[in-house]
Amino acid sequence: MDTQLFKKDFISTQDWSVDELWTMLEAALKLKADFAMGVPQDHILRAKTLYMLFFEESTRTRNSFETGMTQLGGHAIFLTPKATQIDHGENAKDTGLVLGSYGNAIAVRDCRTGIGQRYLYQMAKHSPVPIYSMQEDVDHPCQAMADLMTLVERFGRDLRGRKFVVSWTHAPKYVRPLSVPQSLVMLMPRFGMDVTLAYPEGYHLMPEIMETARNNAEIAGVKFEESNDMDAAFEDADFLYPKSWGPIMVTEDEAEVEAMAAKHEDWCVTQRHMDLAKKHAVYMHCMPIDRGHEADNDVIDGPQSLIYQQAENRLHVQKALMALTMGGRW
Ligand code: CP
Repeated sequence: MDTQLFKKDFISTQDWSVDELWTMLEAALKLKADFAMGVPQDHILRAKTLYMLFFEESTRTRNSFETGMTQLGGHAIFLTPKATQIDHGENAKDTGLVLGSYGNAIAVRDCRTGIGQRYLYQMAKHSPVPIYSMQEDVDHPCQAMADLMTLVERFGRDLRGRKFVVSWTHAPKYVRPLSVPQSLVMLMPRFGMDVTLAYPEGYHLMPEIMETARNNAEIAGVKFEESNDMDAAFEDADFLYPKSWGPIMVTEDEAEVEAMAAKHEDWCVTQRHMDLAKKHAVYMHCMPIDRGHEADNDVIDGPQSLIYQQAENRLHVQKALMALTMGGRW
């Protein structure tokens, strides 16, 4: 366990060692248990401030960060480009330096393709306080950590040898970023899981992320495979994470996106797909889900689904992240 995390940015799980990530997980499990037992937590970040800058909308991320700060005794401030001088051209350095001189951390969601993650690293270069990714164009580290915590709770700390499938699913129109599948294929091999990535032609992930995922798998001594066949990918899987993402590496043109997606309406998870996996297999999704397109309601609301536990765990991992990096007093 590595506990030297004060002021550490969290923009990608790649920037944290496995030991450091375990520290976050253990802290999250403790905070969750303590909260359930009514152990007071509002001294941990008393009088500390988190700025939350959203370039895009959110249900889970905004409310879990804001609630987390309240539970730890601090305060969270919701910002958008329009509500600040960012819309008038103020850059990441100036915004990060000024907010960092008032508060204790800055969290940013910026999914602009080719811009988002670079904006966060630019801010981190100058800001005196830690910068957190609340999802950008490349990564969604808080989501991936909440997903990992959910698996640890259900299956224990030793996940070696488990087959984790990240699969594309159909969803009309809306071009979702690549950040969730990319965060998963990078993180899960580091915790011993064999990862299979399934997608139809045209929906590949960023080449540099694939290289990182392959390297992570090689270092961990686990498998990393790709498939264009959803059924084959699901066979004998332990963990199923089917979700849609846009063909961003090919096109963002709305008409082309729609035409491409329409060819793959059969990439919708049904109980037949779930039955291809192991008996104890679980269905996972970061939400929001496009019901009836990404998966049938029977699967989403069925006994194998962990989606609400994943959503809840966003709160606990983010509380752990904030307490560890903002100098929380336990
Ligand atoms: N999973 C997730 O990040 O949800 P929101 O977009 O609602 O924050």
